[in-house]
Amino acid sequence: MSTDRIQYLKELRAKAQLGGGESRVSDQHKKGKLTARERIDLLVDDGTFEEIGMFVQHRSMDFGMEKQRVLGDGVVTGRGKIHGRDVFVFSQDFTVFGGSLSETHAAKICKVMDMAMKLGKPVIGLNDSGGARIQEGVVSLGGYADIFLRNTLASGVIPQISAVMGPCAGGAVYSPAITDFIFMVKHTSYMFVTGPNVVKTVTHEDVSFEDLGGADTHATKSGVAHFAVENEVECLDGIRRLLSYIPSNNIDDPPFVAPTDDVHRMDADLDALVPENPNKPYDIKEVIRRIVDQREFFEVQESYAANIVIGFARLGGDSVGIVANQPAVLAGVLDIDSSLKGARFVRFCDAFNIPIVVFEDVPGFLPGTDQEWRGIIKHGAKLLYAFCEATVPKLTVITRKAYGGAYDVMNSKHIRGDYNAAWPTAEIAVMGPKGAVEIIFKKEIDKSPDKEAATEQKVHDYREKFANPYVAASHGYLDEVILPHETRPKLIKALHFLRNKVDSNPKKKHGNIPL
Ligand code: HXC
Repeated sequence: MSTDRIQYLKELRAKAQLGGGESRVSDQHKKGKLTARERIDLLVDDGTFEEIGMFVQHRSMDFGMEKQRVLGDGVVTGRGKIHGRDVFVFSQDFTVFGGSLSETHAAKICKVMDMAMKLGKPVIGLNDSGGARIQEGVVSLGGYADIFLRNTLASGVIPQISAVMGPCAGGAVYSPAITDFIFMVKHTSYMFVTGPNVVKTVTHEDVSFEDLGGADTHATKSGVAHFAVENEVECLDGIRRLLSYIPSNNIDDPPFVAPTDDVHRMDADLDALVPENPNKPYDIKEVIRRIVDQREFFEVQESYAANIVIGFARLGGDSVGIVANQPAVLAGVLDIDSSLKGARFVRFCDAFNIPIVVFEDVPGFLPGTDQEWRGIIKHGAKLLYAFCEATVPKLTVITRKAYGGAYDVMNSKHIRGDYNAAWPTAEIAVMGPKGAVEIIFKKEIDKSPDKEAATEQKVHDYREKFANPYVAASHGYLDEVILPHETRPKLIKALHFLRNKVDSNPKKKHGNIPL
């Protein structure tokens, strides 16, 4: 081969590496943002990235675009490895037409998504884009739709993870929204359907980019983002960590990591963790950390609907998804937001063969007009539906309250819980003692000369009768009553036992979850 041909290819490669040119790269750095390629370097294992489509260019001939063609057309796509496992990546390059999505830019993304589906590998999208390439019009909109369709068809087949590392506006937000997890970088990323200017025109509200759609907004108020991180390095590291818990597709098992934490380890402090007074809070995350391998709990949506806690951990080396009521926030009550948060997570775990472990301490569903009028019935039903349809190994430990419908919902035996245990502190009843006696002994208490003493006596009787795990255990609704310090080895043994569990749902096109 002539040296000219070799030289030409080398030059083309070097040109592609430059993206939108030095000055735009420098602008990107000044904003505290990395370039598309720098991000990929941090995301994948060293030296594993293989680029696909480096020389793709747009085909637009309008608005002088024919004179502005950039190799790669604003998105770097390819494959690499994370912890030695294959992944597909697309990383939008804001230095090229603001990372905007053209017909060919979209085709590059679709190409890696199609390959990921055929090979059963995760797709990670690093989003940093001004949205639809304005010069291309409907062709660009069509490109988005091509991606949305693939996001939907891939849902539940391969994990899809989105990082929002710059602007993400208009309909463009719907691709990340369909994916399984969204990371947002604080102060440099934002997501909204319409930006502050349109908001001002339509609703006369004055709102900043950050308040309308920044990382904190979506991690605390809307629940759109699962992780809000301080900077891009933390973001890419977080994606690597998340992937360590999840399999490459819906047929594989999640990665096993040989445990260095003793599987027989017991924790005596757990016996004193639940306060004697049933109205006193405690931190369920402390319970979780004391039970899981190396006390490592990778929490998801930490700042949203904190009355339910979700996240990944390992038990005896096996990856598990944890769903736990949090008595330290709103007494662990189930409301609309916590039901949605829990339901989506349960469905993710079920889709990807990740056993679900529930820690339950729930006083019921949150009463009130706000919740009822906004549809707690249909939203609470989503959590119920998600637990009912899940066929992965399902384990539940009731630490304290399991009241009312929430008892049924939180992975009870009746909805195919495989291992249901309770601590001796468990209270399983239709409702809390005070509410119950005020209803069923109303007349008797009213007649009594000392109403307070009568109520107290009845509460005491009710508590003796129902506020314990033994009635449920006598019906077989619990498999065991266990001592809190035994919980880790008990759960690990149950998980091992359930490893080859096979269960299925009736054949159907799809269910009709109450959306
Ligand atoms: C083409 C675009 C572009 C776009 C930005 N650029 N957005 N080119 N199409 N959508 C180009 C700019 O011309 C500029 O080119 C470079 O990218 C950087 O943009 P700046 O404006 O200089 O950057 P900055 O000040 O950081 O502002 C970023 C921005 C702003 C907030 C994203 O560019 C912006 O508002 N863009 C338009 C956003 C938008 O309305 N998109 C359409 C949304 S609707 P030069 O050559 O100067 O470097 C949509 C529909 C999707 O996306 C529907 C799917 C169903």
